[in-house]
Amino acid sequence: MREIINFNTNWKFFKEWKDNMKNEKLDNGENITLPHTVAEIPLHYFDESDTWLVAGYQNSFKYEKSKLENKRVLINFEGAMAACEVFVNGQSFGEHKGGYLPFIHDITEVLKDGDNIISVKLDSTERKDIPPFGHEIDYLCYGGIYREVQIIIVDNVSIENVMLTGLSDQTLTGKIRIRNSKKESVKEKVSIDIYNREYHICKIEKEVTLQSGELFTDIEINEHIDSDRIELWTIDNPRLYKAEATLSNEDALSVRIGFRTAEFKEDGFFLNGEKIKLRGLNRHQSFPYVGYAMPERIQKKDADILKFDLGLNVVRSSHYPASRHFLDRCDEIGLMVFEEIPGWQHIGDKAWQKVSVENVKDMIERDFHHASIIIWGVRINESQDNHDFYTETNEVAHKLDKTRQTGGVRYIVGSELLEDVYTMNDFNLDGVADPIRAQKCVTRLDKNVPYMITEYNGHMFPTKMHDCEERTIEHTRRHYAVINAVAIDKHLAGSTGWCTFDYHTHYNFGSGDRICYHGVYDMFRNPKLAASVYSSQMSKKNGIVLEPITLYARGERSIGGVSPLMISTNCDYIEIYHNNDLITKEYPATGKYQGLKHPPVIVNLAVNIPGVSEMDWVDIRIVGYIDGKPAIEKTYLSNPTFKALEVKADDTEINSINDGSTWDCTRITVKAVDAVGNRLPYINEAIIIDVQGDGELIGNDNPVLEGGYYSFWVKSNDKKGSIKVTVKNKRVADQTLEIKVK
Ligand code: GAL
Repeated sequence: MREIINFNTNWKFFKEWKDNMKNEKLDNGENITLPHTVAEIPLHYFDESDTWLVAGYQNSFKYEKSKLENKRVLINFEGAMAACEVFVNGQSFGEHKGGYLPFIHDITEVLKDGDNIISVKLDSTERKDIPPFGHEIDYLCYGGIYREVQIIIVDNVSIENVMLTGLSDQTLTGKIRIRNSKKESVKEKVSIDIYNREYHICKIEKEVTLQSGELFTDIEINEHIDSDRIELWTIDNPRLYKAEATLSNEDALSVRIGFRTAEFKEDGFFLNGEKIKLRGLNRHQSFPYVGYAMPERIQKKDADILKFDLGLNVVRSSHYPASRHFLDRCDEIGLMVFEEIPGWQHIGDKAWQKVSVENVKDMIERDFHHASIIIWGVRINESQDNHDFYTETNEVAHKLDKTRQTGGVRYIVGSELLEDVYTMNDFNLDGVADPIRAQKCVTRLDKNVPYMITEYNGHMFPTKMHDCEERTIEHTRRHYAVINAVAIDKHLAGSTGWCTFDYHTHYNFGSGDRICYHGVYDMFRNPKLAASVYSSQMSKKNGIVLEPITLYARGERSIGGVSPLMISTNCDYIEIYHNNDLITKEYPATGKYQGLKHPPVIVNLAVNIPGVSEMDWVDIRIVGYIDGKPAIEKTYLSNPTFKALEVKADDTEINSINDGSTWDCTRITVKAVDAVGNRLPYINEAIIIDVQGDGELIGNDNPVLEGGYYSFWVKSNDKKGSIKVTVKNKRVADQTLEIKVK
């Protein structure tokens, strides 16, 4: 039986690495718990070099030799940015290059009875020898041990990896990797059990000889499972099963799998043989202040936003492998994933390419079992063609995974197709040109191939939460234009737009303040109006959407008024009222947006200003109807004033740090509203955030609202109890809420 020790607490952090840290326990470090960022940064206008450190971490591990006779002690780092050298009692385990994928060291041989010093030298200086670095990149990678660490105690023979997945014909396929730390060869029996929750579905047994001198042996699995208990993994019913591999010594390791077949063909994308248009967005995993260092709950929340708030069926994990928690959640909720290796436009020398090929391997080995992953991105995003390099990345991917196709994201036309799917960033839409380019113009091939658009919009029209109405409308219009064109093109598998959330970047990208305002959400995960393009395509049963694309002010737009007024909605039609007088009744613009299930309603008022005469500016009420009945309504005041701060937490309860676990946190959103709860988009009042009790605030306690919003995260410490949060602004009443910490 294995023992897994969460090793996220009791770390000491040192901003500057010193060589004596390798084997000398120092007390002057900062006490930290993972996930950790080497430098908390301001929201914007920081210097990215603030995150470039050669830092140190120390921890200790108590070893009892007599108890652990014949056991191996492994240490697993799930993600440390960017180069990481681990020392145990001064002994180096070599440097691991790359911040997005896990690495394991067997530290048994250097352990001694009693306390052992574990030191980590962590280099986050954007070194040229590590992808994605070497040239300019449009995202910030921060630094730190920002994912979990475990110590895993196993027998001399143990399971290293369960790389299994299911196909829609009920085939279970992949391999089990076994570690044999004994010096001699060993005969072993591996059992693989598939469970549907607690119900045992089947057992597969394999005999294997582990050769002496070979640390790892792979056992290929390819079995048809004859059971009527298996339901396919689909986006609406993402059924998951436990696949557990067990050895004769009872060492066991399990993963969750789904049975499904994903296929890109010349005429689109098919899940289990059913054609589905992929509609999604790209996601960067960056957050204000702490960068990448956010725990499980927050990773999962992002997946929920994509699936449930935006109604998307796919996400591109740009431009690197995501946290396992994010992917686990995608499996659970039926959100398909395009996962790719770290990189951005630049291809380094041969040694750099070698690390990148390792990334392909490590990504697939870590994530093979995720039902949600439908394609591997095996090119450096938007790099030039490189025949040898990409032949190799494709070969590695195909050898490791016969069930999934490869893509490789490019922006050059006529690029050599070494992958199974031509995946293209199409930034054709500049406000005038067609929303997307014809496939053959891009591929320069004379036939259709499996084809997907992996980015659009983004830098073509950056839009901030507090931008003016006209910009917001154009931002929204552009997202509509592309998803409509994508929906109409029968050969196109689908698209992932740029992007879900605004993200941190380097000085030479974005708006100069180190943020790319390319999201349909801001960095705090609050929706801009363009988010409604996606959410309004949801089926009504998943939520009724009515989002007028307006800030509703008489003189905000050039010329003034609010006509034409675009309304994102999945209602059948809308009506606009002043008091109880009907101003107009309008239907979705099905002619203009023939590809969309729910085109926006476009209202052209007879007089630009909704009122009794052209000089009136009045309150209005917009009502959305479904099946002839009012289903949702939204009121706008002609005379809005600052009435309140609305303060809401994503969770009422979070976990304390417990038994080596990470810290936990939740987001709290503050919205400045008028008397009917509408956001005040131009308010730039400061607020004061006071956090008391068993937790602490991440970031600024005296920020300014942006676009009417501010969000912040409060994190737990090792105490159980509660966190009391008060948000103040002297113009309105204080708001207080409490988060339980269990
Ligand atoms: C693409 C790139 C993305 C991001 C985007 C901005 O070219 O792949 O990482 O920079 O542009 O629109």
